[in-house]
Amino acid sequence: MADITILGIESSCDETAAAVVRNGRDVLSNIISSQIAIHTEYGGVVPEIASRKHLEKIDDVIALALKEAHCTFDDIDAIAVTYGPGLVGALLVGVAEAKALAYALKKPLIGVHHIEGHVSANYIENKELEPPFACLIVSGGHTHLVVVQDYGKFEIVGRSRDDAAGEAFDKVARAVGLGYPGGPKVDAASKTGNPQAIEFPRGTVTDNPYDFTFSGIKSNVLNYINKAKMMNTAINVPDLCASFQEAVTDSLVSRAIMLCKERGYHKLAIAGGVASNSHIRARMEEECAKNGIRFYRPSPVLCTDNAAMIGCAGYYEYLQGCRDGLDLNACPNLKLGER
Ligand code: KG4
Ligand code: ZN
Repeated sequence: MADITILGIESSCDETAAAVVRNGRDVLSNIISSQIAIHTEYGGVVPEIASRKHLEKIDDVIALALKEAHCTFDDIDAIAVTYGPGLVGALLVGVAEAKALAYALKKPLIGVHHIEGHVSANYIENKELEPPFACLIVSGGHTHLVVVQDYGKFEIVGRSRDDAAGEAFDKVARAVGLGYPGGPKVDAASKTGNPQAIEFPRGTVTDNPYDFTFSGIKSNVLNYINKAKMMNTAINVPDLCASFQEAVTDSLVSRAIMLCKERGYHKLAIAGGVASNSHIRARMEEECAKNGIRFYRPSPVLCTDNAAMIGCAGYYEYLQGCRDGLDLNACPNLKLGER
């Protein structure tokens, strides 16, 4: 079969990214222009600023992706772009860019689901990985436990009833004064903390044991901080972070392993920004080894937002004959499994 080269574009939140991916799994380039430094000043992503910065950067990021891949637009077979979920103004920049390129170059356009992209990041470094497998998706907006039945086809087994795991990390980081972006800061602070120092609840949902809830853990952390302030006692930030991280990790690991054991899956992957958490990775690795499950996790740079994962997901959509028209629009609330 002839090689298929996809230009992937991602702009759903605060990273402007473009990548060239050959045959779904060979990443020829992966350029990420992060806006973290800009949003740090505001303690979180400011949607209007994110859109403006995407607009300023996107042409250069795409040009650099082509250059690093030693490609020109002539070498590109299709353009894949994240069209949801995400911030509407941010998504629109990538979608408009992809549509303009597809029209001008007369190349196929493929809209990609951002979360499908995160899952696909696992294929890049594991050439042998193929569905079906179990996957835990943990990002800033999603906490889903799924079975990947086929490329782009998911059975959602569990989801968060309230906050996404990443959201909980970000809120706790803000509450203890670590600021934005919360996840990596809590991860770093936890390294010197005692995970058993404070007992936080491991929330359960009675009508679906695979569903997650993080609001209880989060409010317990906030109550703990308020109490310490009222009593004028100092908070041990590393201990607090490590104990919170341990509670979240327990919730995630126990359900993911339960799914593999109950349904007989021997492959478990993790995906999304929170999947770059060092403690979650280590604990998953340990539990998978104990239970004879092969554990897949993308390198941290492929866990957080990037366009290589979009090029990869786009390739499988391309093979399935998915094509979008120039009426493709940004879908900020796109659900997993929808197209
Ligand atoms: O997948 P992602 O880059 O963007 C979304 O699609 O949401 O995920 C971002 C989320 C943020 O909540 C961030 O705090 C979290 O991933 N995150 C982490 C770590 N790195 C990023 N959470 C915990 N530990 C980390 N090391
Ligand atoms: Zn993401």
